[in-house]
Amino acid sequence: MQAVILVGGFGTRLRPLTRDIPKQLLPVVDRPIIEHVVAHLAGHGVTRVVLSLGFRPGVFADAYPDGTCAGLPLHYAVESEPLDTAGAVRFAALEAGIGTGIGSGSGSEDCDTFLVLNGDVLTDLDIGAMVASHRAAGAEATLALTEVDDPSRYGVVPTDAEGRVVGFVEKPDAESAPSRWINAGTYVLEPSILDRIPDGRPVSIEREVFPAMATERRLHAVRSDAYWIDTGTPEAYIRAQVDLVDGTRGDLPAVHPSAQVDPGADVERSVVMAGVTVGPGARLCDAVIMAGATIGADATVDHSIVGSGAQVGSGASIAGLTVIGATERVGAGIQLAGVRIPGDS
Ligand code: GDD
Ligand code: MG
Repeated sequence: MQAVILVGGFGTRLRPLTRDIPKQLLPVVDRPIIEHVVAHLAGHGVTRVVLSLGFRPGVFADAYPDGTCAGLPLHYAVESEPLDTAGAVRFAALEAGIGTGIGSGSGSEDCDTFLVLNGDVLTDLDIGAMVASHRAAGAEATLALTEVDDPSRYGVVPTDAEGRVVGFVEKPDAESAPSRWINAGTYVLEPSILDRIPDGRPVSIEREVFPAMATERRLHAVRSDAYWIDTGTPEAYIRAQVDLVDGTRGDLPAVHPSAQVDPGADVERSVVMAGVTVGPGARLCDAVIMAGATIGADATVDHSIVGSGAQVGSGASIAGLTVIGATERVGAGIQLAGVRIPGDS
């Protein structure tokens, strides 16, 4: 099966980390987000990945010069302007020959069922079970759903007892959300869905295509309680990493072997990447310190991210989902809470 992975967004909620690179190339503990996503797909029988690109496509080609990622061949579909989520699916699917039998190796249209994934989601969703449910229901499109406490930043998806989607509301007000089950950003689609996407303009799958299909009762959904996180905000980007080192989802080493953490520093629920230096008396809590950054003596980083090669001076305090961009400097003793440095990015 082929998978189209949407990776063409601007990643604005993660700026300044995403000023120069797409968010799916930001590291989560030991690898870029996209490698976690593709490795999961490879484990579920996907044989070919189409990256749906827009913003800074060259960075992907540079990252995977041999044209493979996590062992799977990559195909690139580069939009000349952002086509939004459905426009991107249509463009990428046509570029990859989905719906024509080309590229699937099947030589037949009926085997062209394909997957679409939001490229910023990390999940242990059982894709095989989802495809089986899609086929059993004879569905044209099947969405995975996950349950969250606050559905307001997601696509909210009420269903009936048979798993038919009866509505699709993208980012509703918290009070008006009709369900806590939300679009988990993994879709199983038949090629006929491409005919539902108008050509020549940006089209949102969440605001246009899925709501129309829900009205027609043509959309199927499967609920999942598997691990799931959308890494696209600073809070979630930190959480996704801590979950992989604190036993919630994995037990990866929290501190890269090449990092130098002074024995007098305190590192709690944090990820320290390659080549980082952490000075004596420094305190890291729910922090992500990216490759080559330096944390001075007695500095504190709490619920915050320090970008690659950035320097935090001694005694500085960084808290409240502050994001320090790559190679920025925070002076000794400076206190920052809830800010982005630089702030104009
Ligand atoms: N190629 C391309 N072109 N990709 C795009 C475009 C575009 O114009 N716009 C966004 N993307 C990509 C992003 O890079 C990301 O991987 C994915 O599409 C989803 O965009 P986000 O910006 O991350 O959307 P979101 O998190 O606000 O909401 C989406 O994901 C939620 C689950 O995480 C929606 O699908 C919600 O309904 C869903 O609940
Ligand atoms: Mg997202």
